[in-house]
Amino acid sequence: MAKILDGKVISAEIRAELTARVIGLRGQGVVPGLGVLLVGDDPASRSYVTAKERACKETGLYSREVKLPATATREEVLDVVQQFNSDNQIHGILVQLPLPDSSMEESVIEAIDPDKDVDGFHPMNVGRMMMGMPAFLPCTPHGILQILKHSGIETSGARVVVIGRSNIVGRPLSNLLSQKSELGNATVTMCHTRTKNMAELTRQADIVVVASGWPNTLTADMIKEGAVVVDVGMNRVKDDTKKRGYRLCGDVDFEPVAEKASAITPVPGGVGPMTITMLLANTVKSAVQHHGAE
Ligand code: GUN
Repeated sequence: MAKILDGKVISAEIRAELTARVIGLRGQGVVPGLGVLLVGDDPASRSYVTAKERACKETGLYSREVKLPATATREEVLDVVQQFNSDNQIHGILVQLPLPDSSMEESVIEAIDPDKDVDGFHPMNVGRMMMGMPAFLPCTPHGILQILKHSGIETSGARVVVIGRSNIVGRPLSNLLSQKSELGNATVTMCHTRTKNMAELTRQADIVVVASGWPNTLTADMIKEGAVVVDVGMNRVKDDTKKRGYRLCGDVDFEPVAEKASAITPVPGGVGPMTITMLLANTVKSAVQHHGAE
């Protein structure tokens, strides 16, 4: 049975350090602030945003939410981004994705001040990250690297398969893991919907990261004995036995895969809390950079 890589425990350690840091910053008159924009009322996005704001409060950060209806125009969305850009109380800007009109995502991301882009989605930060230059790292990939680091899982020389090629997870994570850096040096294969014979590739992997957005993408027959499995999925599956009518599950067929793996992240309680923790860390980092504080 696999060791459970508990994202809540690792998050709690990092958040305790951040809380102490924020107390110090507040003593210097610096309150790290996060501006959050939620467009529309997708229930999953609503719950992510609520969790991020709660984490800000618990860690001593200031957060301000702006909500726009799903019918908001590009100009209305850009106007909120510009307000956050020019607001000295706001050091980090989070526009929750996906936007109801996905055709505006690129222009909205490009409008965010790269120095406040704590999601690490702006092309400036993506480019800097890819070149190994100082940058805001995207929160989910960064959180996954921290889980591996804190769990003593060696990436150097490891064969890693990443399933999924999104701009938010698959592509940046593949890039970071392959970099010549402390948490990199892996040999990375990125798989996607057009990959042929994916199981052949995953069975060779020491580490498999699943960010496909579909339950049961990774089944036990697809991994080798003793592989490390990181599940990025967060799917709502209808379940009438639950009060809210659904249960959360990841992208991995958890029980059978956990039987065969050496370590695995659970859903919930694995990658999710780490994503939020890295957002807090990036916002604190941005506040420090903006104020030249320590
Ligand atoms: N949607 C899914 N993940 C994320 C994330 O990390 N940041 C934002 N802004 N939207 C998301």
